[in-house]
Amino acid sequence: MKKRLSILGSTGSIGTNALSIVRMFPERFQVVSLAAKKNVDRLASQIREFSPELAVVYDGSAAEALKARLPSDSRTRVTWGEPGYQAAAAHEKADMLLAAMVGAAGLMPALAAIEAGKDIALANKETLVMAGQIVMGLARKKGVRIFPVDSEHSAIFQCLSGQRRQDLEKIIITASGGPFIHRPMAEFHTIRPEDALKHPTWAMGKKISIDSSTLMNKGLEVLEAHHLFGVSMDRIEVVIHPQSVIHSMVSYRDGAVIAQLSVPDMKGAIAYALSYPERLPLSQPPPAFDRIGTLSFEKPDLKRFPCLGLAFAACKAGGTMPAVLNAANEVAVAAFLKEEIGFMDISRVIQETLDKHRVTLNPALPDILAADRWARTRAEEAVRVFRQRI
Ligand SMILES: NC(=O)c1ccc[n+]([C@@H]2O[C@H](COP(=O)([O-])OP(=O)(O)OC[C@H]3O[C@@H](n4cnc5c(N)ncnc54)[C@H](OP(=O)(O)O)[C@@H]3O)[C@@H](O)[C@H]2O)c1
Repeated sequence: MKKRLSILGSTGSIGTNALSIVRMFPERFQVVSLAAKKNVDRLASQIREFSPELAVVYDGSAAEALKARLPSDSRTRVTWGEPGYQAAAAHEKADMLLAAMVGAAGLMPALAAIEAGKDIALANKETLVMAGQIVMGLARKKGVRIFPVDSEHSAIFQCLSGQRRQDLEKIIITASGGPFIHRPMAEFHTIRPEDALKHPTWAMGKKISIDSSTLMNKGLEVLEAHHLFGVSMDRIEVVIHPQSVIHSMVSYRDGAVIAQLSVPDMKGAIAYALSYPERLPLSQPPPAFDRIGTLSFEKPDLKRFPCLGLAFAACKAGGTMPAVLNAANEVAVAAFLKEEIGFMDISRVIQETLDKHRVTLNPALPDILAADRWARTRAEEAVRVFRQRI
């Protein structure tokens, strides 16, 4: 029987890779709903190809623009806004949600899918960063499985497979280090958005590309791993591995380390999440070791990349702090992309926001959503101050 998918964020980097897998294996997958923000041209072409029952966009005007691009006999119902995203995520005909929106917008649809008992292929790491305890608790209660799409978490998931949990020593998350890993810090103030968007090994959406260049992406991944695998922070380590061949590793108490390796292409991790436990014949070659030559590793430098340290600190503080970290980061990255602040101001905006926050421990969902709103306002204030200095 075909697996029926709801794909949120279908026009993005993960979404389009996922649809290319659906295209490769039409006998295995069917698309039930698609959702994007406002890229109606790409969404309309996806609707024409995959004929979902439901398509969702951000607002009414995007919905009108989308409808205008569809044939008059299109069977796809078009709707918009938060209720639409949640309806798509929890669609009665879907077996699984691919959560591939970017940012905090992914949280409520993911919760709606879990509430409706849908398994989740999780790309949107912000969901677990903001509300990991609530999301994982609800998934356990509803018997919902969450399969990681992030390549690092997919690697860890694979390295944990068949092992006893009590034998686990450490999760070792690898990071390419992004485009500035060897650039002198004295030049950081010259970094423009177009430099930061040029990732050396991965092709990704804008926000995650900037997060990779500041190493915030690794911080968000540490938080994600902490919740997804139920492993305490002191057992999670980050190591810079510029070749992006080893996607992460797990060490065990007998000194053995299990690693997962593949070429840096998200299709592998996406396909594994969609088809677990089966491995699909993707015709992706394994890494060409004779050509790679050397695999190197180094410790991350928290002075040069303070965002990683901020993420560790937010995780240690717990409660609402990771949601505040995430929101402040989203605001700072958006401001950097608009050239309102400099590259080094990203961590300063986040730091200022974290410093002002009074943590609520064991937060309920309304506490997390309130912290997210509060942090956006504070971070925007900080952006205004830094903007005047630029
Ligand atoms: N790309 C990767 O290789 C990769 C790897 C691991 C994890 N992830 C995670 O996967 C998620 C998606 O990343 P991406 O690189 O695919 O991002 P992306 O290319 O920027 O795509 C984002 C998708 O989300 C939609 N979207 C953006 N804002 C939205 C909003 N407020 N409401 C509803 N939809 C919205 C976009 O629609 P429009 O196109 O209409 O704007 C697009 O479909 C992120 O959480 C990222 O951290 C990505």
